[in-house]
Amino acid sequence: MERNPVTELREKIDMDRLPSHIAIIMDGNGRWAKKRLLPRTAGHREGMKRVIDIVQVASELNIKYLSLYAFSTENWKRPKEEIDGLMKLLVEYIRIELDRIHRNNIKIQTMGDLSKIPEFARKEIKRAIDTTQNNTKMVLNIGLNYGGRDEIIRGIKSLLEDIRMGKINIEEVDEGSFKNYLYTKDIPDPDLLIRPSGELRISNFMLYQIAYTEFWFSDILWPDFKEEHLYMAIIDYQRRNRRFGGI
Ligand code: FPP
Repeated sequence: MERNPVTELREKIDMDRLPSHIAIIMDGNGRWAKKRLLPRTAGHREGMKRVIDIVQVASELNIKYLSLYAFSTENWKRPKEEIDGLMKLLVEYIRIELDRIHRNNIKIQTMGDLSKIPEFARKEIKRAIDTTQNNTKMVLNIGLNYGGRDEIIRGIKSLLEDIRMGKINIEEVDEGSFKNYLYTKDIPDPDLLIRPSGELRISNFMLYQIAYTEFWFSDILWPDFKEEHLYMAIIDYQRRNRRFGGI
């Protein structure tokens, strides 16, 4: 009988050593569209379909946390039509997928300042968060108006405020307590960060949390990213020897 190469790849994954938290910088939508002479929003739409696929695959694999970079604090510099298109896609994603996400016991949460997200999208995001708040199989953590530096500065401001109010002493400030001032206070640091599209940079994503994260870069554009690429990243991750500064 002929073997399916994707199944073969999946079988190479050691299910006892899965990364608990995978973070993905979903890049390359614009280039994918340009190659096909399509508007950039067509690339984002195809990228949304990959979000649907990868959330499903990650949850089937038993990944506990999946963080996706959907909109950065710098993305406001893009043309208005593109920003509007991205916000509409996010709403469409929630409308199409929320039922299934909820049925699959996935909890949606976000990181980033939602106050700047247009009202029509914020309402849907809130509905998704509220509906799924008690789910326990996997956390889908979406970066929306998120920037790593912005997160750290907000954390510091809020910590200083708590010090001023006497809620915490300077002596108590350490890595354990500072974590509570980040958007990711309830989730562990990423074990594996995936960046497709050939760019070899972090672009302000989870700067504080990636101290010991393993990186996996690839030339594949996000709209072409398939389940086998996720498997390849995990297999590669499992070959590495994580020492966390030890020997
Ligand atoms: C980067 O590609 C991608 C984005 C800025 C947006 C990512 C959004 C989605 C995949 C769709 C909606 C998201 C969810 C969570 C449903 P780029 O435009 O910078 O690509 P380029 O570098 O090729 O121009």
